Amino acid sequence: MEALKAEEFLAELISCREAFWEKMNAERKSYGAEKPLSPAIVLRRLQFGVVMERKAAEVTARWVGEIPDLDLQQPMSEYVVNELKHTSILRKRIAELNGDPDALWNQPLKELKELWDYHASLESLCELIASVQFGHEEFFPRTSKSFIARVQSIDPQTASVYRDTLLADEAGHEWIAPEILRRYATDAKTQKKCLEALKRGCELFGKAIQSFNQSLPA
Ligand SMILES: [Fe+2]
Ligand SMILES: [Fe+2]
Repeated sequence: MEALKAEEFLAELISCREAFWEKMNAERKSYGAEKPLSPAIVLRRLQFGVVMERKAAEVTARWVGEIPDLDLQQPMSEYVVNELKHTSILRKRIAELNGDPDALWNQPLKELKELWDYHASLESLCELIASVQFGHEEFFPRTSKSFIARVQSIDPQTASVYRDTLLADEAGHEWIAPEILRRYATDAKTQKKCLEALKRGCELFGKAIQSFNQSLPA
């Protein structure tokens, strides 16, 4: 197999990701992902966020030292700082709501652990980026919008945390992942591994989301 040109390669990753999103989005309602929120569900959702933010930082941090170009290394290190900052913000909000900030961190659902164990096991920067930042992290703004709309009336402070901090920062780092893949995933073997990582990451993410929703109090 010959290597694809950068833009063709990115287009293929996008088409895999979007096909997965279509499927997951169609299934989301069937397991209650869009049901009305209660304070207990909001708390659980924030605890889920703690795991997602902190793990994204942890699995990425080990690769920062391997990024050859400083113009990508520096923003990627800032990405790690941002995700840890988001973890702190979410933990603080949970404490204000009298919850345990690390409830899911200390006892993750099996599927949530599988997702992040998979990311930690990946063997190259490009695979990690394809699977996390170019993959399921792209779904975060989409699912957050629906969460914000539903949480606004019962907990406007939490809605503001998502809208004004987490989502606002997200928009600032979206350019990094495609640029890393464009620059470093240039041979056929790496491109193939990236596609596999993106597919597997999306699959495991879908299972984690489903398991999370099914674990919510009625
Ligand atoms: Fe974040
Ligand atoms: Fe993020």
